[in-house]
Amino acid sequence: MAKVKTCYACSDCGATYSKWQGQCHSCGNWNTLEEEIVHKPKSKAEESTALALSLETTKSKPLKLSQIQASEQERLDMGDVELNRVLGGGLVQGSFILLGGEPGIGKSTLILQTVLRLNSRTLYISGEESYNQIKMRGERLGLLHDECFIYTETNLERILHTAVSLEPKLLVIDSIQTIQTESSDSSAGSIVQIRECANLLLKYSKTSGVPVILIGHINKEGSIAGPKILEHTVDVVLQFDGDKHYMYRILRANKNRFGSTNELGIYEMQQNGLRAVENPSEHLISRERANLSGIAIAVAMEGARPFLIETQALVSSAVYATPQRSATGYDLKRMNMLLAVLEKRAGFKLIQKDVFLNIAGGIKIADPSTDLAIISAVLSSSLDLAIPEGVCLAGEVGLSGEVRPISRIEQRILEAERIGFKAIIVPQDNLKSFTPKKEGGIRVVGVRSVDETFRLIFRKSN
Ligand code: TYD
Ligand code: MG
Repeated sequence: MAKVKTCYACSDCGATYSKWQGQCHSCGNWNTLEEEIVHKPKSKAEESTALALSLETTKSKPLKLSQIQASEQERLDMGDVELNRVLGGGLVQGSFILLGGEPGIGKSTLILQTVLRLNSRTLYISGEESYNQIKMRGERLGLLHDECFIYTETNLERILHTAVSLEPKLLVIDSIQTIQTESSDSSAGSIVQIRECANLLLKYSKTSGVPVILIGHINKEGSIAGPKILEHTVDVVLQFDGDKHYMYRILRANKNRFGSTNELGIYEMQQNGLRAVENPSEHLISRERANLSGIAIAVAMEGARPFLIETQALVSSAVYATPQRSATGYDLKRMNMLLAVLEKRAGFKLIQKDVFLNIAGGIKIADPSTDLAIISAVLSSSLDLAIPEGVCLAGEVGLSGEVRPISRIEQRILEAERIGFKAIIVPQDNLKSFTPKKEGGIRVVGVRSVDETFRLIFRKSN
């Protein structure tokens, strides 16, 4: 009998070793190596899979770039503006896509509502839910489409045979962690299984030209568990996240061979599925609270899309000797840096103050152009003076308290104007290359330093 071969695979990064060791040399994590069965003597199932996919018949040969017949990649319209944009204008034929996200965030909902809206034949494999559950979800979404085939199966060989005979326009695997191939003895969800299954699905996708969407769960560190190893196999890595307690969900591409990775899709989870938020600015800021202290409106940019967002700060006297600093939706280190700038360059004493920062709507923001709004919100709360109504800010703050220029200033100004803001505070340096409209519209004010910004905002009250 052929010997069963085993290896030790890291459950975090997927690196494999022939011997057990305490630490994974690849990712540096301890105690993550697990024994896995790599190879099982060639079985009938494996051979038949290869046959079904007619892998042997597809051979390519070296070609000069000039000999390659370039054809504009045909894209499948997903019937969802946000998803189309994040994918770079639709789904490319034969592409291999990984959609990751925490359990319960809405991955199955997003994909099911998309396939049910498509006009073409699709095959949706569910290894997690029963026919009944999926039917109930479809009814809840109000979409019951006849061209979508649901198949609750976890055996990869059977899935591939069905796919080959059904010839769908799109294949969905929900989720990759539940699928198992007979060619490996490891349990479903193990590194070896995930890798094997993904390789076979990749071959299927490339030989048949059918796009495949894999759904994968995220582990506690926030990376796509196990499937981290899939990131270089797939063409597109989509990440679906958001705070479960808020209704907003954000879809972004971490990797995209067919488009930009800067694009962002915003959804709202409703009773009957996910609805695309086409006008995020109007949802993320509230007019009623405009004249409260501690609130500043920032004009942030994600990808090519500007949106206005409410930054909220609360500064109160510290109860303990070490003041508390907490930030939700924003990098705590960056907030501490901004507080240090405020203290050193603008002379505000925050040593005995607790500072809490929150980005409204459960959104996470990393755009440095929100610095100016954050620093103004902190000061506004500390002085208990509201920022005048109809004013928004955009600017990066440097360590010496200078306001540094930011990208795409014109788009940000246009967005603020569209939403009805009266004035926008921007870095003075940006105005060198851009002349705002003189008459009508929004007033654009340039500032050089945080000091100057504060004098401008709180002038009347001081
Ligand atoms: P689900 O798509 O099952 O998450 P995932 O596949 O990422 O694990 O979505 C789960 C949550 O979404 C669930 O807790 C209920 C909620 N939900 C709604 O609020 N409205 C809806 O119409 C649907 C279908 C789900
Ligand atoms: Mg699911």
